[in-house]
Order: sequence, then structure tokens, then C-alpha cells
Amino acid sequence: MTRRTLLIGCGSYLPERILTNEELAVRVDTSDEWIRQRTGIGQRHIAADGEFTSDLATRAAERALEHAGLTPEDVDVIVLATTTPDETFPATATKVQANLGASQAFAFDVQAVCAGFVYALAVADNFIKLGQARTALVIGAETFSRILDWTDRSTCVLFGDGAGAVVLRAAEMDGADARSWGVLSTHLHTDGNARDILYVDGGPSSTQTVGHVRMNGKEVYRHAVSKLAAVIDEALAANGYASSAIDWLVPHQANRRIIESMAHRLGLPMSKVVCSIERHANTSAASVPLAFDEAVRDGRIKPGDLVLMEAIGGGLAWGAGLVRYGAPVMAKSGAVETVREEVVPIA
Ligand code: ACO
Repeated sequence: MTRRTLLIGCGSYLPERILTNEELAVRVDTSDEWIRQRTGIGQRHIAADGEFTSDLATRAAERALEHAGLTPEDVDVIVLATTTPDETFPATATKVQANLGASQAFAFDVQAVCAGFVYALAVADNFIKLGQARTALVIGAETFSRILDWTDRSTCVLFGDGAGAVVLRAAEMDGADARSWGVLSTHLHTDGNARDILYVDGGPSSTQTVGHVRMNGKEVYRHAVSKLAAVIDEALAANGYASSAIDWLVPHQANRRIIESMAHRLGLPMSKVVCSIERHANTSAASVPLAFDEAVRDGRIKPGDLVLMEAIGGGLAWGAGLVRYGAPVMAKSGAVETVREEVVPIA
């Protein structure tokens, strides 16, 4: 028997307020046409005054637990990816733990900007595979609107707020199941020499201010296309899969042109790519789990589907994860509620 990490539930949350491109064009010298053509973004959600990253994360986590048929007491670890924590400390994950009443869970944040969710997935997967946790809540949540310079048209049009979460659960499996279900592999990379092309010009140790996002868009674009392509190849090669085996690509939602270029490279039609950028914009660490949840709930991604996730962001930090969603019992019955009993027996 091999200890596997199954991904058995997901949830997301978007703040109510929608900010359209047209509204933005009143604030800065831009247009709906420019934003759509260059990025594919049509609107973004913005957190309300007094609505924090922890609030978004809590809502997404509640939905994910409900979807997985588990309770907060079942959770052993909460890994929250965010670049926009409620406060410098304690970790925003600790607030989520308290909000949920996940009294058995240890909780901490991971900071890898837009690649944060893939990093958090890798961290949680390792806790489970090493036997240190049985159930993990992995969350990506951001209130990026709070660190934008709303007078800088080159960045303020690109981002939005939101949260997405997934539930990971240990399972003892054997034979072909052990090789083909759950988190198959994760691949993480960093190039700190490129940190000055995408950063925030503030921080507790440097300026004692929160700061604003600064970006050399063209350079980020150039790195994104080549680095994402390389890490996708790495994930496929590590598992012996050809790109034709992928059922769904769930990419980081930064720019529709980058997403299209990854799909083209993989030989995947856009109908096999989950693309929510038009409605969500770039929600940084939340973008992959948000898009994933949307596609699970509308029935595109089904139990048993092979899903490739990838993301890149400030650092530069980037990564990919290859996951077969659900559990064998879900693929058979389609009933999420039956997963718990099936998945529980572990060493
Ligand atoms: N509206 C209108 N014009 C604009 C806007 C805007 N919102 N922003 C920039 N422009 C202008 C520029 O000033 C420039 O004008 P100029 O030619 O007179 O100087 C012109 O448009 C072209 O600007 P570029 O920056 O060259 O435009 P580009 O085609 O590169 O598109 C973009 C910019 C969309 C930012 C693109 O470079 C991109 O998507 N880069 C990747 C960003 C990304 O992926 N970020 C992900 C990581 S985010 C994270 O980790 C937090």
C-alpha cells in the first residue's frame, strides 16, 4: 500500500463588488478595448471595506470542506497562500483556523505571490505523504486591490480579489490506483535574480509601509512564457505522460495571451483550458483554485480527470502540479458524500 494525497473537494469565494474596465477608464487613462486586447480581462471583484483576506479565505474553505463532506475538526493543517495578509503577523491562516473552528489544525501562510497556491499544494502534499497530516486545507486568498497603485494604469487594471480552496486527504492505495490518483507530483522553482521585475515597493523591514505593486510587464511576460513551458514539460516527463493525457489545464490567470500560448504549446484546444480571467482578472495566489473550483462546480472537471496546474509570479517563483481529481469511488458514483468513508481508512 502507498500513501497518496487525494484532492477531494474545492470551494471559492469572490467579493460582491465588481469593478468593470469601463469604471476603471474613468479613474486612469485606459479603455475596455486596451485591457481586453492585451490581457483578456473584462472585470474584477474588489473586497468591501472591512472585508479582509482572512474573510475571503474562510468562505472558500467552508465551501471546500462542505464539498468534501468533512468538518473543520477533521483538518490537521491549513496552508494559506497569500501576498496580502490581514496583518504582518500573525499568519492569516491562524485567523482562518479560528473562524472555522478547526481546533485540531496547525496553520501557517506561504508567500510565493502568484505561484503561492502551487507552493502551498506542494507543502501540504508533503505533510500528508510523510504522515504528518491526514487532512489538509490548502487555500489561496488575496485582497490584491489593497496593494495596487490606483494611479498606475500599467498595473491597476490587471488584478482582482478572491479566494479558492481545496481539501486534500490521505489514502492508502495500491496497484494502478496508487500511481494514478491524487497529487501525482509538484515542481517548484525560484529565480531571485529576477525579483526587480515584479515586486512591492514597501515592507515592514525596508520601508515600514505596505507599498504598491511595481512591474515590468514585458519582462514578466517573457519569463512567464518560457518558464511555464519548461515546468509543464517537467511535470509531464516526471509522470511519463504526453500532453494528450491532460484532461484540463488550469493555468494561473495573469494574461489570456500567456494562457493561449501554453495551450498551443501543449496542443490543447482552449475548450480544455479553464480560463476565468475575463471575470476574475489576476487574483494572484487565488487564481488557480478559483478557476479549478469553478470548473468542478459547473461540471467541466470530473472525478478521474487529469488536471495540470501552473503559475508564475513575483520572485520570480513558479511551479506546476499534476493532479488526478477526486477518488476512485467518486468516479464510480459521482457522489462526493461517499468519499469520506472510502478515503478514511489510512495507516
Ligand atoms: N491602458 C492603456 N494603455 C496602457 C495601459 C493601460 N492600462 N498600460 C500600459 N499602457 C500603454 C503603455 O504606456 C505603452 O504605451 P507607449 O507605447 O506609449 O509607451 C503601451 O500601452 C504598451 O505597453 P506595454 O507594457 O508594452 O504593453 P504590453 O503589450 O507588454 O502589455 C501587459 C502589458 C498586459 C502588462 C503585459 O506585458 C503582461 O501581461 N505582462 C505579464 C504580466 C503578468 O503576467 N503578471 C503575472 C504575474 S503577477 C504577480 O506575480 C503578482
